[in-house]
Amino acid sequence: MTVIERLKIDLGNDTGEIILGRDILKDLSSFCNLNRKVLVVTDSGVPAEYAEPVLAQCAEGHIIVLPSGEQHKTLATWQTVLEKMLELGFSRKDLVIALGGGMIGDLAGFAAASFMRGVDFINIPTTTLSQIDSSIGGKTAVDLNGVKNIVGAFWQPKLTCIDFELLASLPRREFNSGLVEAIKAGLIADAALFERFETLNVADIEIKLPELISAAIKVKQKVVEADEKEAGLRQILNFGHSLGHGIESYYQLNELLHGEAVGIGMLLITEDEKLRKRIENVLLKFDLPVTAVYDKDAVFELVCHDKKAAANTINLIKVEVPGKAEIVKTPIEEIRRYL
Ligand SMILES: NC(=O)c1ccc[n+]([C@@H]2O[C@H](COP(=O)([O-])OP(=O)(O)OC[C@H]3O[C@@H](n4cnc5c(N)ncnc54)[C@H](O)[C@@H]3O)[C@@H](O)[C@H]2O)c1
Ligand SMILES: [Zn+2]
Repeated sequence: MTVIERLKIDLGNDTGEIILGRDILKDLSSFCNLNRKVLVVTDSGVPAEYAEPVLAQCAEGHIIVLPSGEQHKTLATWQTVLEKMLELGFSRKDLVIALGGGMIGDLAGFAAASFMRGVDFINIPTTTLSQIDSSIGGKTAVDLNGVKNIVGAFWQPKLTCIDFELLASLPRREFNSGLVEAIKAGLIADAALFERFETLNVADIEIKLPELISAAIKVKQKVVEADEKEAGLRQILNFGHSLGHGIESYYQLNELLHGEAVGIGMLLITEDEKLRKRIENVLLKFDLPVTAVYDKDAVFELVCHDKKAAANTINLIKVEVPGKAEIVKTPIEEIRRYL
């Protein structure tokens, strides 16, 4: 095991720890109490052997393997997890561990948040997107009737275990798509991080990954510590997302991956031509798409339906200089100008 970094996340009453390293899973019990009932929640796309060292350290370890894919991030799947906890005689002292990408983290986190009004939760993210973004900040949710993340809770994991070795099995396209959230983190709050992406030689990505992910996590951590419930500042994390979500939905959440759509969304919202070119060069470096074909009216409608669009205005996140984001209240009709 190699521990690269340990971070504390401080949210007043709630504190959690983030551990970054390699081969951590076989020593997980040195960071948390596994001497209780533990339910490991994972999906069919996550290599089965990842759960083995975790289960081996639990006093009473159980596993539930859910079908993979966003279409299963539903109340029905959430209920399956809760039923399993009930059947196992789970008490408030027991533990849920998510082992998977953002879909599993969101769903297992919501099961942990809701069973008996809350049991301990540990998140072990296995995709770049979940290591960089979704496992940090305590948002848990499922989708309902095609509306993403509409039912959920804020529930902070006691421990988030970022093990870079788990990414070895991730398909390259998924890997690159998740990196967009780190590029975004640089653009909104850490110019040096964005510049590191600009100068990076792609062949070095595996070696550089720990420092890139660590910097991106710190951006998110700082923002979430300042505004856990998204009353203000936390909105800057949505840079590229309002338009990106519209395009992602237009492709019915299947042809474009989330990060790919967000990358295009960042380009669309960036008006400064020089900066747009810089972002484009970074995206191209990781074989990420920089354009998409879509019907502008249809995407406009989808952006309007997004939960972030309140009444006739929308809070757009703009970046003019890397490292500095602004929240701009914009009349909804103006969205058309960017599409
Ligand atoms: N809570 C938050 O703050 C937050 C933020 C951003 C995104 N999200 C959510 O995250 C989800 C997307 O997460 P994602 O991109 O990780 O997708 P995902 O969890 O669906 O994983 C993508 C695919 O990769 C597979 N996979 C996972 N780990 C693997 C590994 N190590 N090797 C090989 N295959 C692996 C999965 O089985 C799945 O098929 C969405 O539901 C989104 O709403 C949440
Ligand atoms: Zn995102």
